[in-house]
Amino acid sequence: MNEPFDIRNAFEKISSGTRTIAVIGSMNADYTVETETLPQPGETVNGGPLQILAGGKSANQASAAAHIGAQVKMLGALGTDDNADFLFSTLAQAGVSMDSVARMEGTSGTTVITVDAHAENTIVYSAGSNAKVNPEYVRSVQRTIQEAAVLGICFESPVESVIEAARIAHRAGVKVLLNNSPFRPELPAEILANIDILLVNEHEMSHMLHLAPPTGGDWAQLDWDGVAQRLCELGCDQAVVTLGSQGAYVLDANGFVENDGHSWRFLKAVKVKAVDTTGCGDAFMGAILAGLTADLSLYDSARLAVYVAGYAATGLGAQSSYGTSKQIVDLLVS
Ligand SMILES: Nc1ncnc2c1ncn2[C@@H]1O[C@H](COP(=O)(O)OP(=O)(O)O)[C@@H](O)[C@H]1O
Ligand SMILES: [Mg+2]
Repeated sequence: MNEPFDIRNAFEKISSGTRTIAVIGSMNADYTVETETLPQPGETVNGGPLQILAGGKSANQASAAAHIGAQVKMLGALGTDDNADFLFSTLAQAGVSMDSVARMEGTSGTTVITVDAHAENTIVYSAGSNAKVNPEYVRSVQRTIQEAAVLGICFESPVESVIEAARIAHRAGVKVLLNNSPFRPELPAEILANIDILLVNEHEMSHMLHLAPPTGGDWAQLDWDGVAQRLCELGCDQAVVTLGSQGAYVLDANGFVENDGHSWRFLKAVKVKAVDTTGCGDAFMGAILAGLTADLSLYDSARLAVYVAGYAATGLGAQSSYGTSKQIVDLLVS
């Protein structure tokens, strides 16, 4: 059922394209410490060395797309602290255009993360300048949004600003891709009216549809035609559901001719030696944005994304684990 997919050709289309991706949202400095066990309330535990890593969902998505050669413009706000310079230069070095990023007085977005010996973690998010991305700022960068081929949004910025960005994009005929994360159980009507494609992981999808996870964790057991239908009824006729190391489903309520008219096509994850899966979902989103900008179909964009996200599982951190097209091809394509 799978027609051949030329990943080198897809990367070539992306890096030679002139159309841009706009990503609006968060940039965070992730303060990460590894501990044997997570501290209980009132408890102090010893940890390893502090690592300050570049993160934030939107920044990760922009970085992943730029790593594979796409033209990406970051929209959002940094503070006036040292982390602002660190986040700015990390993204700029990855090739992301930072010209439209605002500087707001105060601290940048930060997270404080503890990770225990079983990779269990706790995360405290301090939005900092990310919370200052207001609709006024969004209107001030509307040209950048209107000139893009695709806009990526998530919910690490104030919802009224995300809505404003989606509205501007949709009105200008720019494709809008929503990552429903941090998860919102109810999507505002103004979001649903202005998005084209939804990207969620398996847990977010099952919460959205009030579905119990399948017994034994085998997501292939689910009625995926039914999932596509129900997401369509919510207002998302095209969606991608990622399943960690299992892979991803691409859903289109109008059906795929290649799959006997079913509303789904399944993509197996690539086999990798996984080191840290932080930021894999964001890498996947960045690759979809890049594929769509180069006029690949959603399905082919997802075929590419499986490689880009798989590569991201082989290194530590989020942005620090992303690969260039060459690195991805060298490691994962024979
Ligand atoms: N262990 C892994 N091996 C290979 N690919 C992986 C692995 N973990 C994640 N991926 C890839 O990353 C994608 C996104 O991961 P997922 O865990 O579903 O997202 P999120 O980070 O949002 O939870 C998957 O669809 C898969 O393609
Ligand atoms: Mg996951």
